[in-house]
Amino acid sequence: MTTQTVAVLGLGAMGGRMAARLLEQGFSLRAYNRTSSRADGLRERGALVCDSPREAATGADIVLSMVRDDDASEDVWLDPERGALAGMSAGAIGVESSTVSPAWVERLADAFERRGVALVDAPVVGTRPQADAGSLVFLAGGEREAVDGLRAVFDALGSVTHHLGPVGRGCAMKLAVNALFGIQVAALGELLGCLSRGGIEPAAAMEVLGGLAVTSPAAKGAGGLMVREEYSPLFPVELVAKDLGYSSAEALRQGSCAPMAAAAAEVFAAATTQGYGAENLVAVAKLYRA
Ligand SMILES: NC(=O)c1ccc[n+]([C@@H]2O[C@H](COP(=O)([O-])OP(=O)(O)OC[C@H]3O[C@@H](n4cnc5c(N)ncnc54)[C@H](OP(=O)(O)O)[C@@H]3O)[C@@H](O)[C@H]2O)c1
Repeated sequence: MTTQTVAVLGLGAMGGRMAARLLEQGFSLRAYNRTSSRADGLRERGALVCDSPREAATGADIVLSMVRDDDASEDVWLDPERGALAGMSAGAIGVESSTVSPAWVERLADAFERRGVALVDAPVVGTRPQADAGSLVFLAGGEREAVDGLRAVFDALGSVTHHLGPVGRGCAMKLAVNALFGIQVAALGELLGCLSRGGIEPAAAMEVLGGLAVTSPAAKGAGGLMVREEYSPLFPVELVAKDLGYSSAEALRQGSCAPMAAAAAEVFAAATTQGYGAENLVAVAKLYRA
């Protein structure tokens, strides 16, 4: 039985599930969400619900953020009055598990270093069912000692942890994973629409594509959802648009370019504009319906 106290900042679709799993696994939980009503269920199950990230972080051994984007991460960690970093003790470890940009994580790491507190970026691969089951894959960047200090939390929430090097590497790897997935889904939606207009229905097209090596397991799964027109959210369109935008911006920051990610980002942004932002990423297929 663990004796660690974990603060979770952000109780959305992923953070709420991860917090619930930590409680089930015997961690003491301090929890914060900007919209406080989202924490009610966790309070009933024994979490200490706090009014600010700073209050949640105070006395916690580990502080894990699972919020939407760079701006939300800045708010929960660095807000001068309410931010978590100001409440953390020197021996505590911060974990940024949100999918954020490497550029932002570098700035965040500087702020942690100035306060003498360890930070690990550890975004996750997997969506809501994997968060429920504790089978996420963690992509971690940070000092070895800090990553080792998170072992019990990673094991409770995930099935595999990859330590990729210093802070920032976790986010870089995560953006690559999502770009590879998002680009395939955008391409598949486009192709199924084109085939459909030419007389080959999506179900018939997936019957062929699904049996061929050119179709990855992830694309095959996405194609099946497109055929069945199942759009209920797992990994929402608007979050994919954000991640592809970060991929593209990161390539530019490196003096390179990412034309594939940029093109896919435009597709997911267009789907968001069309009102599909909260639906599962396969809803991009609706842009190409016959
Ligand atoms: N969904 C997935 O399949 C999936 C999988 C892997 C990784 N991720 C990544 O995990 C992160 C969370 O995703 P999610 O699906 O849990 O998203 P979500 O359900 O939309 O939840 C977003 C969370 O961020 C909080 N938030 C947003 N802006 C904020 C701000 N300015 N200040 C403080 N809190 C703020 C929200 O608080 P409110 O409740 O007040 O709005 C909520 O707790 C994202 O970075 C996402 O890209 C998602």
